[in-house]
Amino acid sequence: MSDRARSTVLIADHDNDFRRSTAEALESAGFSAAQCASAADARSRLEGFAYDGLLVDVRLADGDGLDVLDDALTRYPHMRCIVTASFGSIHHAVRALKRGAVDFLIKPCQTLQIIDALRAPLATRQPVSRPTAPVRPTTPRGTFRANQIVGTSPAMSRLLTTLELVSPMQSTVLIQGETGTGKELVARTVHENSPRRDQPFVAFNAAALPEGLVEAELFGHIKGAFTGAIQSRVGRFEAADRGTLFIDEVSSMPMSLQAKLLRALQEREVERVGTSRPIKINARVIAATNVDLREMVKEGTFREDLYYRLNVVRVELPPLRQRQEDIPALARHFVQQSCELNGVSPKTLSQSTLRCLMEYAWPGNIRHLQNAIEHAVAMSGDSREIDVEALPEEVLAPVSDAAPGAARVTVPHMPEEGINFVSTMTQVERQLILRYLEKAGGNKRRAARLLNLSRTTLIDKLQRLGVTEISTSTSASGQVSDTSVSSAA
Ligand SMILES: Nc1ncnc2c1ncn2[C@@H]1O[C@H](COP(=O)(O)OP(=O)(O)O)[C@@H](O)[C@H]1O
Ligand SMILES: [Mg+2]
Repeated sequence: MSDRARSTVLIADHDNDFRRSTAEALESAGFSAAQCASAADARSRLEGFAYDGLLVDVRLADGDGLDVLDDALTRYPHMRCIVTASFGSIHHAVRALKRGAVDFLIKPCQTLQIIDALRAPLATRQPVSRPTAPVRPTTPRGTFRANQIVGTSPAMSRLLTTLELVSPMQSTVLIQGETGTGKELVARTVHENSPRRDQPFVAFNAAALPEGLVEAELFGHIKGAFTGAIQSRVGRFEAADRGTLFIDEVSSMPMSLQAKLLRALQEREVERVGTSRPIKINARVIAATNVDLREMVKEGTFREDLYYRLNVVRVELPPLRQRQEDIPALARHFVQQSCELNGVSPKTLSQSTLRCLMEYAWPGNIRHLQNAIEHAVAMSGDSREIDVEALPEEVLAPVSDAAPGAARVTVPHMPEEGINFVSTMTQVERQLILRYLEKAGGNKRRAARLLNLSRTTLIDKLQRLGVTEISTSTSASGQVSDTSVSSAA
């Protein structure tokens, strides 16, 4: 390639090793790279030459890299500038993007990531094998929309800051979090706040398909590529062209396909199954996982190079039990959503219901909470306030992990004027016994075992409580109601 055809990049960085190795890598990737360590040197070079790109660190030997960025963009408004920052200087990065940088990378970063970041914006100056118009932001920065994301805990605020930052970029995003923590919602939010928002968002779940089908689904296939391939088909990568490809549960990609995925990300081209003709693709990839990929890398079940390629920007979604302060807002959000969906008039949550929701551990995270609220809205019938009894049983009486066998007790109601302790306790006792009897289908021996009582103690209690007979039919809620019990009293 002649030098005139090469894209030119100026690297301004205080770190000699970083600068040299990056320049070398860029040269061998087909760029022409110049380097300098100081802001003064960078300015004089920029005065003398219109580079295609600038890779500048926020910290230079004699000053602020962001000032150099400003100068460069004032002089050459169309220059593609990429800012690097050391880990922890995310605020610099926010400022950089606001001032017009097209991207930023946090160090330490792989050389491949740098080439990738430089190539995406610069590629529009080079002829590409297929006419693809450049993807450009259509709205100014500062218009981030958090979509449906509810939550004000510190973890959620940090998340929103990160999302605002990464959404406009081309970078790959890796979202890690337990199931139900909102990974797909986050991926959609990134897409909707990106310059690609008017293009398709294509979701692909690597775990939902048998291994043999994953490849054809992701990369497409030609007619006759395998038995049953009666016509050729476009893969998800192609379907997401100019848009975003969301690869869910990326950890379950078989090893053989991890290599192909890596290639697609690196070369930005795919081959449909049954042919070796490469097709250029331009899809931003967002991947999600509920297992720790670093652990898989250590175990040798996930490719390290693919991990680095995906992990350009990492977003961690904490489990709901670690952000309890978000529960009330989320619960109210879901109550409103569920009432609207079912066409019922608005409802509120009672104090004790909220307390119950906050105390529960939510193993299924936000999706679990959403389902519990839907259940509660349905069970609360006509009443405007959702009381504890409307909640699913597992939320009401969770087994405490502190004392094995003991139910975590939620005090149902504490009136100002006080209570009759003895009769309240009798009521609680009665309810627990009746529920377990119901669960045991009326079998006293089984109920006694569930309650960790002897059969004779249970019979004594039943007599004292005046319960003589229990019907074995289960009410719609799965809870026993007093009408299904004959009382001697
Ligand atoms: N922060 C949030 N605010 C409001 N709703 C949320 C939030 N996070 C998740 N949800 C909702 O919870 C459900 C599960 O989220 P999802 O993105 O499918 O989780 P995951 O992909 O991690 O399993 C979805 O209905 C989603 O809209
Ligand atoms: Mg999901």
